[in-house]
Amino acid sequence: AADAREAAASAPDLEALRALLERFDGCPLKVTATRLVFADGNPQAKLMLVGEAPGRDEDIEGKPFVGRSGKLLDRMLAAIGIDRTKAYIANVVPWRPPGNRTPTPQETAICLPFIRRQIELADPDILVCLGGPSAQTLLGIKDGITKARGRWMDYDTGTRRIQALATFHPAYLLRTPLGKRMVWRDMLAIERKLAETRPE
Ligand code: URA
Repeated sequence: AADAREAAASAPDLEALRALLERFDGCPLKVTATRLVFADGNPQAKLMLVGEAPGRDEDIEGKPFVGRSGKLLDRMLAAIGIDRTKAYIANVVPWRPPGNRTPTPQETAICLPFIRRQIELADPDILVCLGGPSAQTLLGIKDGITKARGRWMDYDTGTRRIQALATFHPAYLLRTPLGKRMVWRDMLAIERKLAETRPE
């Protein structure tokens, strides 16, 4: 983990970080995954969203949120006038866990320095954690997502504070459509917060 931290800190920009992950052999998930799923969207965007880990479709395409969850995520963003030119999208873990299982705490810990560096380098104004695992890992929340969602928190990069919000993961919404009302509120809160931040 100290290796990963040092390596991640040494990446001067996002392309270097991606190249570093391509070479990194410290995460066992890399062995079973087809490829690295680093990011999609615009790294200059004010809004960054972070999910849990790639699924099957993402593993094939090499881009986050391109499967069914991704289609729903695109609709959530479209509701507030945002597409992938106005958002930067990544996952806590950049390799698909076998059978889409939840990443283990060890796997997550190994990947954490990289996603932290990715957030620091992208330097968004607003960070949105999609689902409980992302919120627990990045925001340190202990509550479940049902309790933690919809509240603004600070995400500390080490050099800067970023306003952060957790909301339901789109995969959860596919199973539990009733959650969509809450996510709608969260999307409006994100829209308002974006309007308050520095112009693009
Ligand atoms: N679920 C995630 O958390 N991330 C993806 O990229 C796809 C599905």
